[in-house]
Amino acid sequence: MNDLIPVSLRVNGVRYDIAIRPWRTLLEVLRETLGMTGTKRSCGEGQCGTCTVLIDGKAVNSCLYLAVEAQGKEISTIEGPPEGDPALEQIQRSFVAKGAVQCGFCTPGMVVATRSLLSEIAEPSEDEIREALVGHLCRCTGYVQIVEAIQDAASQLAHKGGD
Ligand code: FES
Ligand code: FES
Repeated sequence: MNDLIPVSLRVNGVRYDIAIRPWRTLLEVLRETLGMTGTKRSCGEGQCGTCTVLIDGKAVNSCLYLAVEAQGKEISTIEGPPEGDPALEQIQRSFVAKGAVQCGFCTPGMVVATRSLLSEIAEPSEDEIREALVGHLCRCTGYVQIVEAIQDAASQLAHKGGD
């Protein structure tokens, strides 16, 4: 039985016309169909945040999001657009500089969530940062370095007048 349906997804500004089974999650399609393995799978049930991507600028758990529902929306992942994204790149540099990357498994989700946060609040308070990280689990850092990295990224981007 052919249960594939045609789907058109726009990821990091690039359109992909693919055929998928309708129950496949966005996470599965990104990783297994489009080969974008930067987005990680851990719990698979909305608890850990490693699978975070942006849909129309908002952070969502792609393990809980059907790919078909993402049609017509702008999906952004840790890979970023082909032409680059200075804000995303600054956030990654700040994570490295502040020691917020240890095993690194939580990092793509944290970085993508930070991209969303800083596009809404240019210089968030520590409370606002910690609130944005609710639902993002890190087993390594104790979150202190992650908060510092986000503060650093915000400061660097504000200094540059970025995003
Ligand atoms: S893999 Fe999606 S929230 Fe954990
Ligand atoms: S750096 Fe290892 S889980 Fe966060």
